[in-house]
Amino acid sequence: MVAIAHAASDRWTHQRVRFDFTNLLAESVGSAHGVTLRELRAMAPRAADAARWLQHLRASGQVEWMDLPYQRGVVERVVTFADNLATRCEAFVVLGIGGSALGAIALHTALNHPFYNELAPAQRGNRPRVYVLDNVDPDFVAGALDRLDLRRTVFNVVTKSGSTAETMAQLAIVRDRLRAALGAAAADHIVATTDAARGDLHALAEQEGYALFEIPPTVGGRFSVLSPVGLLPAAVSGIDVRELLAGAAEADASCRDDDLWVNPALLNATAHYLLYERGKHITVLMPYSQKLRGLADWFRQLWAESLGKTCQVDARTIEVGPTPVSALGVTDQHSQLQLYLDGPPDKVITFVAVDRFDRVVAIPPTHLGLGSVDYLGGHTLNELINAERVATALTLTRRHRPNCTFLLPELRAFTVGQLIYLLEVQTALIGHLLGVNPFDQPAVEAGKEATYALLGRPGYTAQAQRLARRLGMGRKIL
Ligand code: PA5
Repeated sequence: MVAIAHAASDRWTHQRVRFDFTNLLAESVGSAHGVTLRELRAMAPRAADAARWLQHLRASGQVEWMDLPYQRGVVERVVTFADNLATRCEAFVVLGIGGSALGAIALHTALNHPFYNELAPAQRGNRPRVYVLDNVDPDFVAGALDRLDLRRTVFNVVTKSGSTAETMAQLAIVRDRLRAALGAAAADHIVATTDAARGDLHALAEQEGYALFEIPPTVGGRFSVLSPVGLLPAAVSGIDVRELLAGAAEADASCRDDDLWVNPALLNATAHYLLYERGKHITVLMPYSQKLRGLADWFRQLWAESLGKTCQVDARTIEVGPTPVSALGVTDQHSQLQLYLDGPPDKVITFVAVDRFDRVVAIPPTHLGLGSVDYLGGHTLNELINAERVATALTLTRRHRPNCTFLLPELRAFTVGQLIYLLEVQTALIGHLLGVNPFDQPAVEAGKEATYALLGRPGYTAQAQRLARRLGMGRKIL
Protein backbone atom coordinates (compact mmCIF):
# COMPACT_ATOMS: atom_id res chain seq x y z
CA MET A 1 0.00 0.00 0.00
CA VAL A 2 1.49 3.36 -1.07
CA ALA A 3 0.24 6.68 0.28
CA ILE A 4 -0.14 9.29 -2.44
CA ALA A 5 1.68 12.02 -0.59
CA HIS A 6 4.39 11.99 1.98
CA ALA A 7 5.02 15.69 2.44
CA ALA A 8 1.54 16.59 3.62
CA SER A 9 0.75 19.16 6.23
CA ASP A 10 -0.58 17.57 9.44
CA ARG A 11 -4.01 19.02 8.77
CA TRP A 12 -4.53 16.61 5.92
CA THR A 13 -2.64 13.55 7.13
CA HIS A 14 -5.85 11.57 7.66
CA GLN A 15 -7.09 12.53 4.18
CA ARG A 16 -4.33 10.95 2.13
CA VAL A 17 -5.43 8.72 -0.68
CA ARG A 18 -3.75 5.33 -0.59
CA PHE A 19 -2.95 3.02 -3.46
CA ASP A 20 -3.03 -0.74 -3.04
CA PHE A 21 -1.33 -2.57 -5.91
CA THR A 22 -1.04 -5.98 -4.25
CA ASN A 23 -3.45 -7.61 -6.70
CA LEU A 24 -1.46 -6.45 -9.72
CA LEU A 25 1.39 -8.66 -8.59
CA ALA A 26 2.14 -12.11 -9.96
CA GLU A 27 2.11 -13.52 -6.45
CA SER A 28 -1.58 -12.55 -6.19
CA VAL A 29 -2.89 -13.30 -9.69
CA GLY A 30 -0.28 -15.67 -11.08
CA SER A 31 2.79 -15.06 -13.21
CA ALA A 32 0.89 -15.16 -16.51
CA HIS A 33 -1.37 -12.32 -15.40
CA GLY A 34 0.47 -10.18 -12.89
CA VAL A 35 3.72 -8.29 -12.73
CA THR A 36 6.59 -9.55 -10.64
CA LEU A 37 8.59 -7.35 -8.31
CA ARG A 38 11.61 -8.31 -10.37
CA GLU A 39 9.95 -6.96 -13.54
CA LEU A 40 9.06 -3.75 -11.77
CA ARG A 41 12.62 -3.37 -10.50
CA ALA A 42 13.96 -4.02 -13.98
CA MET A 43 11.67 -1.29 -15.33
CA ALA A 44 12.73 1.22 -12.65
CA PRO A 45 15.36 2.97 -14.85
CA ARG A 46 12.89 3.42 -17.75
CA ALA A 47 10.24 4.56 -15.32
CA ALA A 48 12.69 7.07 -13.85
CA ASP A 49 13.40 8.34 -17.37
CA ALA A 50 9.69 8.84 -17.93
CA ALA A 51 9.39 10.80 -14.68
CA ARG A 52 12.38 12.96 -15.61
CA TRP A 53 10.93 13.54 -19.10
CA LEU A 54 7.74 14.87 -17.52
CA GLN A 55 9.61 17.04 -15.05
CA HIS A 56 11.68 18.40 -17.92
CA LEU A 57 8.51 19.32 -19.83
CA ARG A 58 7.23 20.94 -16.67
CA ALA A 59 10.37 22.97 -16.11
CA SER A 60 10.23 24.20 -19.70
CA GLY A 61 6.59 25.28 -19.41
CA GLN A 62 5.17 22.66 -21.76
CA VAL A 63 2.74 21.04 -19.32
CA GLU A 64 1.26 23.91 -17.35
CA TRP A 65 -1.53 21.66 -16.10
CA MET A 66 1.03 20.33 -13.63
CA ASP A 67 1.30 23.74 -12.01
CA LEU A 68 -2.43 24.41 -11.76
CA PRO A 69 -2.50 23.53 -8.04
CA TYR A 70 -0.51 26.71 -7.41
CA GLN A 71 -2.40 29.31 -9.51
CA ARG A 72 -3.32 31.58 -6.58
CA GLY A 73 -4.51 34.74 -8.35
CA VAL A 74 -6.76 32.85 -10.73
CA VAL A 75 -8.40 30.96 -7.90
CA GLU A 76 -9.16 34.12 -5.96
CA ARG A 77 -10.76 35.61 -9.06
CA VAL A 78 -12.75 32.45 -9.76
CA VAL A 79 -14.09 32.27 -6.20
CA THR A 80 -15.01 35.96 -6.02
CA PHE A 81 -16.65 35.83 -9.41
CA ALA A 82 -18.55 32.63 -8.56
CA ASP A 83 -19.77 33.97 -5.22
CA ASN A 84 -21.01 37.10 -6.93
CA LEU A 85 -22.68 35.13 -9.68
CA ALA A 86 -24.48 32.97 -7.16
CA THR A 87 -26.33 36.05 -5.92
CA ARG A 88 -27.71 36.93 -9.33
CA CYS A 89 -28.51 33.69 -11.11
CA GLU A 90 -30.47 30.60 -10.35
CA ALA A 91 -29.12 28.42 -13.15
CA PHE A 92 -25.54 28.09 -14.39
CA VAL A 93 -25.13 26.27 -17.68
CA VAL A 94 -21.83 25.03 -19.07
CA LEU A 95 -21.66 24.89 -22.87
CA GLY A 96 -18.70 22.71 -23.77
CA ILE A 97 -17.73 19.23 -24.85
CA GLY A 98 -15.02 16.64 -24.14
CA GLY A 99 -12.36 18.06 -21.90
CA SER A 100 -14.33 21.27 -21.66
CA ALA A 101 -17.24 19.49 -19.98
CA LEU A 102 -16.22 16.20 -18.36
CA GLY A 103 -14.13 17.76 -15.60
CA ALA A 104 -16.98 20.05 -14.55
CA ILE A 105 -19.35 17.07 -14.51
CA ALA A 106 -16.88 14.99 -12.51
CA LEU A 107 -16.45 17.65 -9.83
CA HIS A 108 -20.14 18.44 -9.65
CA THR A 109 -21.22 14.82 -9.25
CA ALA A 110 -18.41 13.95 -6.84
CA LEU A 111 -18.72 16.87 -4.49
CA ASN A 112 -22.32 18.08 -4.56
CA HIS A 113 -25.47 16.49 -3.26
CA PRO A 114 -26.50 13.63 -5.59
CA PHE A 115 -29.79 15.42 -6.30
CA TYR A 116 -28.33 18.92 -6.13
CA ASN A 117 -30.49 20.50 -8.82
CA GLU A 118 -33.65 19.20 -7.21
CA LEU A 119 -32.90 20.69 -3.79
CA ALA A 120 -34.69 23.80 -2.60
CA PRO A 121 -32.46 26.89 -3.04
CA ALA A 122 -31.74 27.16 0.68
CA GLN A 123 -30.60 23.52 0.73
CA ARG A 124 -28.15 24.38 -2.05
CA GLY A 125 -26.81 27.28 -0.02
CA ASN A 126 -28.75 29.55 -2.40
CA ARG A 127 -26.39 28.52 -5.15
CA PRO A 128 -27.61 28.13 -8.74
CA ARG A 129 -28.63 24.85 -10.31
CA VAL A 130 -25.83 23.55 -12.55
CA TYR A 131 -26.22 21.99 -15.99
CA VAL A 132 -23.63 20.86 -18.50
CA LEU A 133 -24.77 20.72 -22.12
CA ASP A 134 -22.12 18.51 -23.69
CA ASN A 135 -24.06 17.44 -26.74
CA VAL A 136 -25.80 19.07 -29.68
CA ASP A 137 -28.69 16.63 -29.75
CA PRO A 138 -31.47 19.10 -30.59
CA ASP A 139 -33.97 17.49 -28.21
CA PHE A 140 -31.46 17.70 -25.38
CA VAL A 141 -30.50 21.33 -26.01
CA ALA A 142 -34.06 22.52 -26.63
CA GLY A 143 -35.27 20.57 -23.62
CA ALA A 144 -32.68 22.26 -21.42
CA LEU A 145 -33.59 25.69 -22.74
CA ASP A 146 -37.24 24.96 -21.95
CA ARG A 147 -36.24 24.63 -18.30
CA LEU A 148 -34.35 27.91 -18.03
CA ASP A 149 -35.49 31.39 -17.11
CA LEU A 150 -33.01 33.37 -19.21
CA ARG A 151 -33.22 36.41 -16.94
CA ARG A 152 -31.77 34.30 -14.10
CA THR A 153 -29.40 32.09 -16.10
CA VAL A 154 -25.69 32.46 -16.82
CA PHE A 155 -24.06 30.45 -19.60
CA ASN A 156 -20.40 29.50 -19.34
CA VAL A 157 -19.06 28.88 -22.85
CA VAL A 158 -15.98 26.70 -22.50
CA THR A 159 -13.71 25.88 -25.41
CA LYS A 160 -9.96 25.73 -25.31
CA SER A 161 -9.63 26.03 -29.07
CA GLY A 162 -12.25 28.76 -29.19
CA SER A 163 -13.78 27.23 -32.27
CA THR A 164 -15.30 23.77 -31.66
CA ALA A 165 -18.45 23.50 -33.79
CA GLU A 166 -20.69 22.05 -31.09
CA THR A 167 -19.84 24.72 -28.56
CA MET A 168 -19.91 27.62 -31.01
CA ALA A 169 -23.33 26.45 -32.25
CA GLN A 170 -24.63 26.41 -28.70
CA LEU A 171 -23.17 29.87 -28.11
CA ALA A 172 -24.89 31.20 -31.22
CA ILE A 173 -28.21 29.79 -30.03
CA VAL A 174 -28.08 31.12 -26.47
CA ARG A 175 -26.66 34.47 -27.56
CA ASP A 176 -29.54 34.89 -29.95
CA ARG A 177 -32.12 33.95 -27.34
CA LEU A 178 -30.53 36.13 -24.68
CA ARG A 179 -30.43 39.13 -27.00
CA ALA A 180 -34.06 38.61 -27.95
CA ALA A 181 -35.08 38.34 -24.30
CA LEU A 182 -32.74 40.79 -22.60
CA GLY A 183 -31.32 43.13 -25.23
CA ALA A 184 -28.07 44.79 -24.26
CA ALA A 185 -27.98 42.96 -20.92
CA ALA A 186 -27.41 39.67 -22.77
CA ALA A 187 -23.64 39.98 -22.43
CA ASP A 188 -23.91 39.82 -18.63
CA HIS A 189 -25.29 36.32 -19.01
CA ILE A 190 -22.34 34.84 -20.88
CA VAL A 191 -18.98 33.93 -19.41
CA ALA A 192 -16.27 32.69 -21.74
CA THR A 193 -13.48 30.30 -20.77
CA THR A 194 -10.95 29.91 -23.55
CA ASP A 195 -7.38 30.16 -24.76
CA ALA A 196 -6.00 33.68 -25.05
CA ALA A 197 -4.49 33.20 -28.49
CA ARG A 198 -6.38 30.45 -30.33
CA GLY A 199 -9.80 30.59 -31.95
CA ASP A 200 -12.46 33.25 -32.07
CA LEU A 201 -14.06 33.11 -28.65
CA HIS A 202 -11.54 35.32 -26.87
CA ALA A 203 -11.97 38.15 -29.36
CA LEU A 204 -15.75 37.77 -29.38
CA ALA A 205 -15.85 37.91 -25.58
CA GLU A 206 -13.83 41.12 -25.61
CA GLN A 207 -15.93 42.62 -28.36
CA GLU A 208 -19.25 41.81 -26.72
CA GLY A 209 -18.15 42.35 -23.13
CA TYR A 210 -18.45 38.83 -21.71
CA ALA A 211 -16.61 38.02 -18.51
CA LEU A 212 -13.55 36.07 -19.57
CA PHE A 213 -11.35 33.39 -18.03
CA GLU A 214 -8.25 32.19 -19.81
CA ILE A 215 -6.92 28.65 -20.12
CA PRO A 216 -3.11 28.60 -20.03
CA PRO A 217 -1.59 27.79 -23.46
CA THR A 218 -0.18 24.33 -22.65
CA VAL A 219 -3.20 23.11 -20.70
CA GLY A 220 -5.05 20.83 -23.12
CA GLY A 221 -8.78 20.12 -22.82
CA ARG A 222 -8.60 16.82 -20.98
CA PHE A 223 -5.94 18.17 -18.59
CA SER A 224 -7.88 21.36 -17.82
CA VAL A 225 -10.18 20.35 -14.97
CA LEU A 226 -8.08 22.23 -12.39
CA SER A 227 -8.04 25.40 -14.51
CA PRO A 228 -11.03 27.80 -14.69
CA VAL A 229 -12.60 25.19 -17.01
CA GLY A 230 -13.48 23.01 -14.02
CA LEU A 231 -12.94 25.46 -11.17
CA LEU A 232 -15.55 28.03 -12.17
CA PRO A 233 -18.53 25.65 -12.45
CA ALA A 234 -17.36 23.98 -9.24
CA ALA A 235 -17.01 27.24 -7.33
CA VAL A 236 -20.41 28.44 -8.54
CA SER A 237 -22.03 25.51 -6.77
CA GLY A 238 -20.01 26.16 -3.61
CA ILE A 239 -17.35 23.45 -3.98
CA ASP A 240 -14.21 24.41 -2.06
CA VAL A 241 -11.83 24.80 -5.00
CA ARG A 242 -8.96 25.89 -2.77
CA GLU A 243 -9.20 22.56 -0.96
CA LEU A 244 -9.41 20.77 -4.32
CA LEU A 245 -6.14 22.38 -5.41
CA ALA A 246 -4.56 21.69 -2.02
CA GLY A 247 -5.35 18.03 -2.67
CA ALA A 248 -3.76 18.22 -6.10
CA ALA A 249 -0.67 19.87 -4.60
CA GLU A 250 -0.53 17.06 -2.06
CA ALA A 251 -0.44 14.48 -4.85
CA ASP A 252 2.18 16.53 -6.68
CA ALA A 253 4.49 16.10 -3.69
CA SER A 254 4.88 12.39 -4.42
CA CYS A 255 4.05 12.28 -8.13
CA ARG A 256 7.16 14.28 -9.06
CA ASP A 257 9.54 11.66 -7.68
CA ASP A 258 11.41 9.50 -10.20
CA ASP A 259 11.43 6.47 -7.89
CA LEU A 260 8.49 4.24 -8.69
CA TRP A 261 8.41 2.93 -5.13
CA VAL A 262 7.71 6.46 -3.95
CA ASN A 263 5.62 7.81 -6.80
CA PRO A 264 2.27 5.98 -7.02
CA ALA A 265 1.46 7.46 -10.44
CA LEU A 266 4.76 6.11 -11.78
CA LEU A 267 4.25 2.73 -10.14
CA ASN A 268 0.75 2.34 -11.56
CA ALA A 269 1.78 3.62 -14.99
CA THR A 270 4.66 1.15 -15.07
CA ALA A 271 2.55 -1.79 -13.91
CA HIS A 272 -0.17 -0.93 -16.44
CA TYR A 273 2.46 -0.61 -19.16
CA LEU A 274 3.90 -4.07 -18.37
CA LEU A 275 0.41 -5.56 -18.32
CA TYR A 276 -0.50 -3.84 -21.61
CA GLU A 277 2.60 -5.36 -23.18
CA ARG A 278 1.39 -8.80 -22.19
CA GLY A 279 -2.03 -8.34 -23.73
CA LYS A 280 -4.09 -6.63 -21.02
CA HIS A 281 -5.42 -4.04 -23.42
CA ILE A 282 -8.46 -2.87 -21.48
CA THR A 283 -8.30 -0.55 -18.48
CA VAL A 284 -11.39 -0.49 -16.30
CA LEU A 285 -11.93 2.27 -13.73
CA MET A 286 -14.62 1.15 -11.32
CA PRO A 287 -15.44 3.43 -8.42
CA TYR A 288 -17.60 2.06 -5.64
CA SER A 289 -19.32 5.39 -5.20
CA GLN A 290 -22.24 6.66 -7.23
CA LYS A 291 -20.77 10.15 -6.90
CA LEU A 292 -17.57 9.10 -8.67
CA ARG A 293 -19.36 7.98 -11.81
CA GLY A 294 -18.55 11.31 -13.48
CA LEU A 295 -14.91 10.98 -12.50
CA ALA A 296 -14.76 7.57 -14.20
CA ASP A 297 -16.15 9.15 -17.39
CA TRP A 298 -13.61 11.96 -17.11
CA PHE A 299 -10.82 9.39 -16.77
CA ARG A 300 -12.12 7.44 -19.77
CA GLN A 301 -11.57 10.48 -21.98
CA LEU A 302 -8.20 11.29 -20.40
CA TRP A 303 -6.90 7.76 -21.01
CA ALA A 304 -8.45 7.30 -24.47
CA GLU A 305 -7.44 10.58 -26.06
CA SER A 306 -4.02 10.66 -24.47
CA LEU A 307 -2.98 7.10 -25.25
CA GLY A 308 -4.86 6.01 -28.36
CA LYS A 309 -2.35 6.93 -31.06
CA THR A 310 -0.80 5.80 -34.28
CA CYS A 311 2.93 6.38 -34.17
CA GLN A 312 6.19 5.50 -35.86
CA VAL A 313 8.59 3.20 -34.06
CA ASP A 314 11.75 2.13 -35.93
CA ALA A 315 10.16 3.14 -39.28
CA ARG A 316 7.11 1.00 -38.51
CA THR A 317 3.63 2.39 -38.02
CA ILE A 318 2.06 1.04 -34.87
CA GLU A 319 -1.34 1.60 -33.33
CA VAL A 320 -1.22 1.88 -29.57
CA GLY A 321 -3.61 2.41 -26.72
CA PRO A 322 -5.30 0.62 -23.86
CA THR A 323 -9.08 0.94 -24.16
CA PRO A 324 -10.61 2.58 -21.09
CA VAL A 325 -13.90 1.40 -19.69
CA SER A 326 -15.79 3.19 -16.95
CA ALA A 327 -17.82 0.99 -14.67
CA LEU A 328 -19.71 1.63 -11.46
CA GLY A 329 -19.73 -0.49 -8.33
CA VAL A 330 -22.00 -2.06 -7.29
CA THR A 331 -24.32 -1.35 -10.24
CA ASP A 332 -22.07 -2.86 -12.89
CA GLN A 333 -21.45 -6.00 -10.90
CA HIS A 334 -24.82 -6.85 -12.39
CA SER A 335 -23.90 -5.90 -15.94
CA GLN A 336 -20.13 -6.14 -16.46
CA LEU A 337 -18.61 -8.41 -13.86
CA GLN A 338 -19.51 -11.64 -15.62
CA LEU A 339 -17.35 -10.49 -18.52
CA TYR A 340 -14.50 -9.38 -16.28
CA LEU A 341 -14.44 -12.74 -14.50
CA ASP A 342 -15.14 -15.21 -17.28
CA GLY A 343 -14.37 -13.30 -20.47
CA PRO A 344 -10.96 -12.77 -22.07
CA PRO A 345 -8.20 -12.03 -19.54
CA ASP A 346 -7.41 -8.72 -21.22
CA LYS A 347 -8.38 -6.27 -18.48
CA VAL A 348 -6.78 -4.45 -15.58
CA ILE A 349 -9.34 -3.16 -13.12
CA THR A 350 -8.80 -0.17 -10.87
CA PHE A 351 -11.25 0.22 -8.03
CA VAL A 352 -11.82 3.51 -6.26
CA ALA A 353 -13.05 2.95 -2.74
CA VAL A 354 -14.45 5.42 -0.22
CA ASP A 355 -13.77 4.47 3.36
CA ARG A 356 -16.23 6.80 5.12
CA PHE A 357 -19.29 7.94 3.20
CA ASP A 358 -21.00 11.19 4.23
CA ARG A 359 -24.07 9.35 5.39
CA VAL A 360 -24.63 6.11 7.25
CA VAL A 361 -27.77 4.28 6.20
CA ALA A 362 -28.76 1.48 8.54
CA ILE A 363 -30.61 -1.57 7.31
CA PRO A 364 -33.32 -2.14 9.90
CA PRO A 365 -33.65 -5.57 11.50
CA THR A 366 -36.36 -7.73 10.02
CA HIS A 367 -37.77 -10.88 11.50
CA LEU A 368 -39.52 -12.21 8.46
CA GLY A 369 -38.07 -15.67 8.69
CA LEU A 370 -36.58 -15.09 5.23
CA GLY A 371 -32.95 -16.00 4.75
CA SER A 372 -32.52 -13.48 1.94
CA VAL A 373 -33.48 -10.49 4.11
CA ASP A 374 -33.07 -11.13 7.82
CA TYR A 375 -29.26 -11.48 7.77
CA LEU A 376 -28.94 -7.93 6.42
CA GLY A 377 -30.67 -6.36 9.41
CA GLY A 378 -28.30 -4.51 11.71
CA HIS A 379 -25.82 -3.88 8.90
CA THR A 380 -25.56 -0.63 6.93
CA LEU A 381 -25.51 0.18 3.23
CA ASN A 382 -21.99 1.43 3.94
CA GLU A 383 -20.94 -2.05 5.01
CA LEU A 384 -22.78 -3.61 2.09
CA ILE A 385 -21.14 -1.51 -0.63
CA ASN A 386 -17.67 -1.98 0.81
CA ALA A 387 -18.21 -5.70 1.39
CA GLU A 388 -19.24 -6.03 -2.25
CA ARG A 389 -16.11 -4.21 -3.38
CA VAL A 390 -13.82 -6.37 -1.25
CA ALA A 391 -15.63 -9.51 -2.41
CA THR A 392 -15.34 -8.46 -6.06
CA ALA A 393 -11.62 -7.73 -5.74
CA LEU A 394 -11.08 -11.08 -4.04
CA THR A 395 -13.04 -12.97 -6.67
CA LEU A 396 -11.19 -11.25 -9.49
CA THR A 397 -7.87 -11.99 -7.84
CA ARG A 398 -8.74 -15.65 -7.44
CA ARG A 399 -9.65 -15.76 -11.13
CA HIS A 400 -6.23 -14.29 -12.06
CA ARG A 401 -7.62 -10.87 -13.04
CA PRO A 402 -5.20 -8.12 -12.00
CA ASN A 403 -6.76 -5.28 -10.02
CA CYS A 404 -5.72 -2.44 -7.79
CA THR A 405 -7.46 0.05 -5.52
CA PHE A 406 -7.29 3.74 -4.75
CA LEU A 407 -8.68 4.20 -1.27
CA LEU A 408 -10.15 7.61 -0.42
CA PRO A 409 -10.65 8.12 3.32
CA GLU A 410 -13.63 10.36 2.48
CA LEU A 411 -15.13 11.90 -0.60
CA ARG A 412 -14.18 15.56 -0.34
CA ALA A 413 -12.46 18.19 -2.43
CA PHE A 414 -9.07 17.34 -0.98
CA THR A 415 -9.18 13.65 -1.83
CA VAL A 416 -10.75 14.22 -5.25
CA GLY A 417 -8.01 16.76 -6.03
CA GLN A 418 -5.37 14.15 -5.17
CA LEU A 419 -6.96 11.49 -7.33
CA ILE A 420 -7.41 13.79 -10.33
CA TYR A 421 -3.82 14.95 -10.25
CA LEU A 422 -2.48 11.44 -9.79
CA LEU A 423 -4.51 10.08 -12.71
CA GLU A 424 -3.32 12.92 -14.93
CA VAL A 425 0.33 12.26 -14.10
CA GLN A 426 -0.15 8.51 -14.46
CA THR A 427 -1.65 9.02 -17.91
CA ALA A 428 1.22 11.22 -19.06
CA LEU A 429 3.79 8.75 -17.74
CA ILE A 430 2.31 5.64 -19.34
CA GLY A 431 2.02 7.63 -22.57
CA HIS A 432 5.75 8.13 -22.51
CA LEU A 433 6.38 4.47 -21.73
CA LEU A 434 4.13 3.46 -24.63
CA GLY A 435 6.05 5.81 -26.92
CA VAL A 436 3.12 8.10 -27.74
CA ASN A 437 2.59 11.82 -27.30
CA PRO A 438 -0.07 11.93 -24.58
CA PHE A 439 -0.81 15.60 -25.14
CA ASP A 440 -2.03 15.74 -28.73
CA GLN A 441 -5.26 14.46 -30.30
CA PRO A 442 -4.77 14.49 -34.08
CA ALA A 443 -7.74 12.21 -34.74
CA VAL A 444 -10.11 14.44 -32.77
CA GLU A 445 -8.83 17.45 -34.69
CA ALA A 446 -9.33 15.61 -37.98
CA GLY A 447 -12.94 14.91 -37.00
CA LYS A 448 -13.49 18.56 -36.11
CA GLU A 449 -12.06 19.69 -39.44
CA ALA A 450 -14.26 17.30 -41.39
CA THR A 451 -17.30 18.77 -39.60
CA TYR A 452 -16.17 22.31 -40.44
CA ALA A 453 -15.79 21.26 -44.08
CA LEU A 454 -19.17 19.54 -44.23
CA LEU A 455 -20.92 22.60 -42.86
CA GLY A 456 -19.12 25.08 -45.09
CA ARG A 457 -16.72 26.84 -42.70
CA PRO A 458 -14.52 29.31 -44.61
CA GLY A 459 -11.02 27.99 -45.18
CA TYR A 460 -12.15 24.35 -45.50
CA THR A 461 -13.34 24.36 -49.14
CA ALA A 462 -10.67 21.99 -50.46
CA GLN A 463 -11.39 19.52 -47.69
CA ALA A 464 -15.14 19.81 -48.39
CA GLN A 465 -14.50 18.98 -52.04
CA ARG A 466 -12.39 15.98 -51.13
CA LEU A 467 -15.10 14.75 -48.76
CA ALA A 468 -17.80 15.29 -51.38
CA ARG A 469 -15.80 13.26 -53.90
CA ARG A 470 -15.33 10.48 -51.39
CA LEU A 471 -19.03 10.48 -50.58
CA GLY A 472 -19.82 10.54 -54.31
CA MET A 473 -21.85 13.71 -54.02
CA GLY A 474 -21.82 17.16 -55.55
CA ARG A 475 -19.93 20.00 -53.90
CA LYS A 476 -22.73 20.80 -51.51
CA ILE A 477 -22.92 18.06 -48.97
CA LEU A 478 -25.48 19.26 -46.44
O1 PA5 B 1 -9.11 16.92 -24.64
C1 PA5 B 1 -9.32 17.46 -25.72
O2 PA5 B 1 -8.45 18.13 -26.27
C2 PA5 B 1 -10.66 17.38 -26.39
O3 PA5 B 1 -11.48 16.42 -25.84
C3 PA5 B 1 -11.36 18.73 -26.29
O4 PA5 B 1 -11.54 19.04 -24.93
C4 PA5 B 1 -12.70 18.73 -26.98
O5 PA5 B 1 -12.54 18.33 -28.32
C5 PA5 B 1 -13.29 20.13 -26.96
O6 PA5 B 1 -12.37 21.03 -27.46
P1 PA5 B 1 -12.42 22.55 -27.12
O7 PA5 B 1 -12.24 22.71 -25.65
O8 PA5 B 1 -11.34 23.15 -27.91
O9 PA5 B 1 -13.77 23.05 -27.54
